[in-house]
Amino acid sequence: DWTMQKFLEEAIAQIRHTVGDKGQVLAAVSGGVDSTVAAKLMKEAIGSRFWAVLVNNGVMRLNECEQVQRDLSEALGINLTIVDASQRFLDGLKGIDDPEKKRKFIGGKFIDIFEEEAIKIEEAAAHDPTKAGKIEFFMQGTLYPDVIESLSFKGPSATIKTHHNVGGLPARMANGQGLKLIEPLRSLYKDEVRALGRALGIREELVMRHPFPGPGIAVRILGEVTPEKVEIARKADHIFISEIRKAGLYDQISQAYAAVDPSRAVGVMGDKRVYGYIIVLRAVTTTDYMTAEAFNFPWDFLQRVMNRIVNEVHGVCRVVYDVTSKPPGTIELE
Ligand code: XMP
Repeated sequence: DWTMQKFLEEAIAQIRHTVGDKGQVLAAVSGGVDSTVAAKLMKEAIGSRFWAVLVNNGVMRLNECEQVQRDLSEALGINLTIVDASQRFLDGLKGIDDPEKKRKFIGGKFIDIFEEEAIKIEEAAAHDPTKAGKIEFFMQGTLYPDVIESLSFKGPSATIKTHHNVGGLPARMANGQGLKLIEPLRSLYKDEVRALGRALGIREELVMRHPFPGPGIAVRILGEVTPEKVEIARKADHIFISEIRKAGLYDQISQAYAAVDPSRAVGVMGDKRVYGYIIVLRAVTTTDYMTAEAFNFPWDFLQRVMNRIVNEVHGVCRVVYDVTSKPPGTIELE
């Protein structure tokens, strides 16, 4: 659309003006809508002088890193580095069952790993004769509502849980690494970011993607995170989301996922008694993520998902649907 085309041209000119013709920019990306749109915008403005980093924290969804590689690097031509730190995260998560401690650990480790990578990239950037500049900027996909929220108050859920995506990162990059912050989406609302994404040629499925928390499926596994539970959460979630897409319901839902409750429930399989984990399905509709309602699925849809999960995901013998609204429930389980 015309307004977005105009915004796009102005944003690109603005970025070029700010960064200059030698300056380089670093960012953390997640594969979500905001960081992808912001990254593509940077790429259009300054090409490979923009460096995107994806940290694999071991609690991303099924095949997510590969998908981000295809989308950002192959389809959109963004200069992307993927750091596989999954083992370091999973090792560190061992024995932690408190939700706040999990969030703090993941947020802190994320910053450490990102900083290590930033140093490597700064060296590479300084020695690349085609670029021959310094990394001077740190880019973040902050939206207008985030700007308002941080100016006024943190929002009800932020006081209940520590929110991490790249929280803490801008301040550390600014003070520790001496980088200046650049936020090309800070005047936009979410629907405008999606429109901009379309104008930039980003595929529709990515533009419409549900939000996903920074601590990933670690907050979708009640209690201790183990590689086995991560595997189970991934498989169940993949089945649930695939069925939602197949039924054409994805865009009617604001956020959906499958979580693991590691309490052992009894079941029968064949003629044997088995003990298995409980899968909790959650799907909500909301406009502002401060309040939310459970999505009203057709009964046969839920039965289909239940059947597939108990048959295809080893170690699971029950599936429940969480009908709790927010409040009193939150969108995530932890
Ligand atoms: P809750 O669970 O508080 O979630 O109702 C509201 C929205 O925030 C997302 N969320 C997070 N996002 N880091 C994030 O980047 C976090 O630590 C985090 N915790 C919750 C949640 O997915 C929902 O969209």
